[in-house]
Amino acid sequence: MNDGPLGTVLVIIPTYNEAENIKPIVARVRSSVPEAHILIADDNSPDGTGKLADELAATDDHVHVLHRKGKEGLGAAYLAGFRWGIEGGYGVLVEMDADGSHQPEQLPRLLTALKGADLVLGSRWVPGGRVVNWPKSREFLSRGGSTYSRLMLGVGIRDVTGGYRAFRKETLEGIGMEEVASAGYCFQVDLAWRAAKKGYHIVEVPITFVERERGDSKMSRNIVVEALWRVTTWGVSARLNRLRGRRHN
Ligand code: GDD
Ligand code: MN
Repeated sequence: MNDGPLGTVLVIIPTYNEAENIKPIVARVRSSVPEAHILIADDNSPDGTGKLADELAATDDHVHVLHRKGKEGLGAAYLAGFRWGIEGGYGVLVEMDADGSHQPEQLPRLLTALKGADLVLGSRWVPGGRVVNWPKSREFLSRGGSTYSRLMLGVGIRDVTGGYRAFRKETLEGIGMEEVASAGYCFQVDLAWRAAKKGYHIVEVPITFVERERGDSKMSRNIVVEALWRVTTWGVSARLNRLRGRRHN
């Protein structure tokens, strides 16, 4: 486990049509963790989020914008953001949604936990964690997805799909980011599973996830299908590999 100094924090906020949310979330991050920098990774949002992000960056040297050419999914936006941050010398890379679901006021707790961990997961499904304003159907999907992934992959993580996380840069460098193919939200499962397999020390910190009040979720049937399909494939091939390994010994 890495317990060296953390280095400078970069909070990466991926955006697609978050014009109503981008200014308030940036303001909250700036006041909750003033020393942290922010990178908005915008996929050329038709609603002009990228332009609003540029306005923020023009007046605040802690705010940066990564303009991407079009909508390529959450995973692709984060991977580009991680690369940008690592090249820029940041020591900690944070994932945070733009819509206020991940409360910036809880970020100091994640960062404190990261002093004694390689990866910190903001978790809805550990004691003290919770979800506010989610329809039962969405809670069922998320809990179900997390449980299925946990059983299929054999990892001890309660909230394996969550998107509020803090990585030490060395952890991202060590898990083979380049091979991550997941485009949608199963990107989150992919990263957590890679870190678990490599034996990194992962700590879950309880968070209160607040459902967005403005704008729309980008969750879709396709994203769920991609996640189910990939998690099942990973789980089955890991089992087959273990069986093959046993036969050869
Ligand atoms: N750049 C970019 N490109 N950003 C995207 C894209 C994309 O294709 N798709 C979504 N985003 C951004 C949104 O603008 C938002 O800031 C964040 O990613 C999360 O998107 P939401 O649409 O609000 O996600 P959600 O609330 O349904 O899902 C949340 O919970 C999931 C687990 O239950 C997220 O935290 C997911 O990461 C998480 O897996
Ligand atoms: Mn959301």
